Amino acid sequence: MRSEWAEPIQSIIKMATFTERMAPVLLLWLAVCLSGTWAVDRGNFKTCDQSAFCKRQRALKPGQSPYRALLETLELTNTRLTLQLINDNNKVRLLLELYRLQGNMTRVKINELKPLKPRYEVPDVLIQEPPTEPMSLLSQDENGVVLSLGAESQRVIVSARPFRLDIMEGREVLMSVNSRGLLAFEHLRMRKDTQADPEAEKKEEADPANQAEEAVNEEEEKVEDGMWEETFKSHSDSKPNGPSAVSLDFSLPGVEHVYGIPEHADTLKLKTTDGGDPYRLYNLDVFQYELYNPMALYGAVPVMLAHNAQRTTGIFWLNAAETWVDISSNTAGKTVFGKMLDYVQGSSETPQTDVRWISESGIIDVFVMLGPKPQDVFSQYASLTGTQAFPPLSALAYHQCRWNYNDQEDVQAVDAGFDQHDIPYDFIWLDIEHTDGKRYFTWDPHKFATPRDMLQGIMDKKRKMVAIVDPHIKVDSNYKIHNEIRSRGYYIKNKDGGDYEGWCWPGNAGYPDFTNPEMRAWWASMFAYDQYEGSMENLYTWNDMNEPSVFNGPEVTMHKDAVHGAWEHRDLHNLYGFYVQMATAEGLVQRSGGVERPFVLTRAFFAGSQRYGAVWTGDNAAEWDHLKISIPMCLSLGLVGVSFCGADVGGFFKTPSSELLVRWYQTGAYQPFFRAHAHLDTPRREPWLFGPENTALIREAVRQRYALLPYWYQLFYHAYRTGHPVMRPLWVEYPQDTATFAMDDQFLIGRDLLVHPVTEEGARGITAYLPGKGEVWFDVHTFQKHNGAQNLYVPVTMSSIPVYQRGGSIIPRKIRVRRSSTCMEHDPYTLYVALSPQRTAEGELYIDDGHTFNFNKKEFIHRRLSFANNVLSSINLAPDAQFSTQSWIERILILGASKPSKVTLKTADGQESQLEFDFDASMSVLTLRKPGMNAGADWTVVLQ
Ligand SMILES: *[C@@H]1O[C@H](CO)[C@@H](O)[C@H](O)[C@H]1NC(C)=O
Repeated sequence: MRSEWAEPIQSIIKMATFTERMAPVLLLWLAVCLSGTWAVDRGNFKTCDQSAFCKRQRALKPGQSPYRALLETLELTNTRLTLQLINDNNKVRLLLELYRLQGNMTRVKINELKPLKPRYEVPDVLIQEPPTEPMSLLSQDENGVVLSLGAESQRVIVSARPFRLDIMEGREVLMSVNSRGLLAFEHLRMRKDTQADPEAEKKEEADPANQAEEAVNEEEEKVEDGMWEETFKSHSDSKPNGPSAVSLDFSLPGVEHVYGIPEHADTLKLKTTDGGDPYRLYNLDVFQYELYNPMALYGAVPVMLAHNAQRTTGIFWLNAAETWVDISSNTAGKTVFGKMLDYVQGSSETPQTDVRWISESGIIDVFVMLGPKPQDVFSQYASLTGTQAFPPLSALAYHQCRWNYNDQEDVQAVDAGFDQHDIPYDFIWLDIEHTDGKRYFTWDPHKFATPRDMLQGIMDKKRKMVAIVDPHIKVDSNYKIHNEIRSRGYYIKNKDGGDYEGWCWPGNAGYPDFTNPEMRAWWASMFAYDQYEGSMENLYTWNDMNEPSVFNGPEVTMHKDAVHGAWEHRDLHNLYGFYVQMATAEGLVQRSGGVERPFVLTRAFFAGSQRYGAVWTGDNAAEWDHLKISIPMCLSLGLVGVSFCGADVGGFFKTPSSELLVRWYQTGAYQPFFRAHAHLDTPRREPWLFGPENTALIREAVRQRYALLPYWYQLFYHAYRTGHPVMRPLWVEYPQDTATFAMDDQFLIGRDLLVHPVTEEGARGITAYLPGKGEVWFDVHTFQKHNGAQNLYVPVTMSSIPVYQRGGSIIPRKIRVRRSSTCMEHDPYTLYVALSPQRTAEGELYIDDGHTFNFNKKEFIHRRLSFANNVLSSINLAPDAQFSTQSWIERILILGASKPSKVTLKTADGQESQLEFDFDASMSVLTLRKPGMNAGADWTVVLQ
C-alpha cells in the first residue's frame, strides 16, 4: 500500500513544481509536511475517542434514559404538538415539537426549553417551511398519548416514562425513537471555573426556577475533559459555549439494510459500527483517502434510508455540525445459515437495526420519511430539500481535466487532439495553475495571457471550459477580491475577532463568510462578465477545497471556534461548501440575466446541494479498488438526492495502467458526471497516449456515452422534476428482491438500463444479475435476449461494457456522434424498442434547447412512446408546452420482434405510408429504416 514517506515527499515535490515565486510558502510547507501536520494518514483525523463529544455520548449505555415527558404540558393545535421533557438527573427541561408533514412525514424537533442563548437551527437547506397536516389525539392516560397522523392509518405513541416515540401503521411499528434511551441533550451552561458573565448571572438568579435547577446542576455535573476546551495534535479548540452535543436513537424493526449518509468510501449497504468507529459526517480534505471505512470525507448528507421487502423509510437529521452515526443490528454477524437455523428452531427474533445520531451542537431536528415505496421516500426528501438542478445537456457529456493544462497552447493542442483522434468532448478544465498566483478570478499573465481568445477558439468548436474558483482568498493588498472582502468585513473571523487566516494554495488566505447572504450576493456579482475579466459565456466554474480545506488547521480544516456572525464555525461546518456552490451557481445565473442554466462542480456538499450542480468523489487514486468504489459512492449520493455524481476517471493520484484507464472510461461513460482528471505529478494521460488499440477502446466508450445523451438528459429532467435518482441501486426498482439489497458492483440508469462494468484487473468474465422474474433483458450491443431473474455469466474482452436494456422499455439515442454534444443538437434519433414478454414497451422523449431556463416557460417537447398490440405511437405528454425541433426519427429498432408482412406509418395529418424494414431472424430484431417523422410530432407505426 502507500508508504509513510511517499506522501509528504510527494507533496513537497508537488509544491516545489509550482511555487518558485512563492519561496516563503514553500518553506512553510516544508515545515508543515516534515512535522507531519498536514496530510497523509489516519492519525491526522479524529476517531470518535479523540472527539470529546463523541466519546462522551458514546459512553452512554442503552436503557438508562433520564428523560421523562411531562404530559401535563402537552399542547396540541391542529398541526403542532408541543410537550416538555425533563431530564431527571439535572432537571433541565427540553421542548419537544412534533409535526405531521404532508406526504407521510413526521418532524420531531427537540430544543432546550430555555437555552442560555439560541442554539443553531440550520437555515437555507429546506426549500420552504414544510406544509403540515392535521393530527388528532386518539387517547391519553398517565403513561402517554396516542396521536393519529394525517389521513393514513399511521399513529404515534408518546410514552412518558421514560420518554419514547413509536411510529406505527396499523399494528406494525415502523420506527421507534429513544427506545434505547440514548436521547442526550447537553444544555448550555455557564462555565463554573472562570469568571462568569455577571449580567447573565443576575438574570438567572432573578428566575427562581433557574435557581432550583442550578442547585441540582451543581451536584450532578461533573466537568469532564474536553467540555470547555479540547486539543487535537497541536490545535486547541476553545469552547466558549461549553458542551452542547445532541444525540438520539432510532430503532427500525424488520430492517436489515440501511443506506445513505454519504460521503464515505464504503459499500452501498452500510455496515454495523459495533467495535469500530461510527460513520463520521464532517467535511474534510482527506489526502489519499482509504477505502472501506467510516471516516469522514469531503461532503456530508445526514440522510439514511432503511429498506426491507415491505417498505422503505428514511431519516433526515438536519444538523450541520460534526456528526457521528452508529449502526447496530441484532442479526449482524449471523450467517445466512445461522439465521435459518434460528428460524427452524423458532428462536429467531425479528431482525432490527438500531441507529444513533450524535452531533456536536445545534438542535435535534429530524424528519422521519415513511415511504412506503423507495420512490415515495425520494419524493418526500425532495419535498424538503429540493431536487437535482437540471444541468445544461453538454454537462452530461465528457469532460477533460487535469491539474493542469499548462497554457493556452496546451489547451489548444489537447482540443485539437480530440479532433485528430475523433473523440468527442464538451468541456476542457483548468485547475489552480491557470490563475495569477492562485488569485481566483484572474489568469496567469504569461500562460493565459488572452483568455478570451482561448475561450473563443473553444466556442468556435461548440465546446466549453471550466476554470476553478476556490473559496480561500489570497491575503494580498494588491488583489482586488481580497481588498473588497476585507473592506466589506466579509471574512470569517477568528475567535479573537480578527479575520481568520489559514494556509492554502495561495499561501496565507482568508475565507469569505459564505453563510452571510450579503457576502453571497457580492460573490455572485463577481461572475459578471465585466467583473471576471477574461470570462465568457462558455466559461463555467469548479469549487474545490470548500470543506473548507485549511492546510495548517485542525484536521486540515477550519478551527471550530472561528466565527460567522452570531455563530461558531462548529455549528455550521458541514454547510460551508453548500453555500460556496450556491453563491457560485447564483453568479453564473445572474451573469446571463437569469437565462442560462449554470454548471458548477463542488467537492464539499450538504443536504440540498443537489440544487446547485454536480459533485465528485474527490481525490481518488488510480487503483482498481477506487474504480470499484465509485459505484457505491455515487449510488449512495443518488439515494439522498444528489444525482449528478462522478469519480475522477483514471484516478487522481498515481498512474493507471492502460487496462485500468480503459476500464475506468468504460465505467465512467455510464456514470452521471463523466470527467477524467489527474494529479500534477502524473504523466499525461489524454486518451490517445496509450497506443491505437486503447485509443479505440476509449473512443468507443466515450461515443457510447454521446449516443445515449438523449436518455441521460431525459433522466436528469425527471430527477429535476421528482428527485428520483438517475443512477440507482437495483433494489430501488426491485424492492422485494432480497438478492439485490447489498449489490453494488452493478446499477441501473433510470429504470431501463442495467450496467455491470468490468472493474477487475485481467477479467475474463463477469456475472451480471438480471433481476425480475418473468422479465427479459437485451444486451445493448448484440441484442441477445436473456431472462430475469438470473445470474448471467458473461465472458468479456477489453472492449466489453456489459449493458442491458429492460424488455418493456424504449430508449432514444443519437448515433451520429460528433465533436461535441452541441454539434449533435439537431441530429436525428434512433429509437430502441425492447419488447417485454407481453410484447409491450414504454419510453419517453424529452427535448428542449439544452441550456436555458426556458423549459420553465413550457418551451420543451415531452412525448410518451409506447408499443402495444403491434402499434408504436408517440403521444404528447405536455400538450400545453411549445417547442420545435429539427430532429427527426431516422431509425427504429424493435428488439424481440417477429417479422411483419408490412409496416405502416400514420402521421397526424392523416397520411399513411409504408416503411422499409429489415428483419434479423437470429436475434429477432426488426429495423425500420428512415421513417422520417419529426421527433416532436404525433405518429403511429403499425406492424402487420
Ligand atoms: C403514505 O403511506 C400510505 C400507507 O403506507 C401509502 O398508501 C401512500 O401512498 C403514502 N403517500 C405518499 C404521498 O407517499
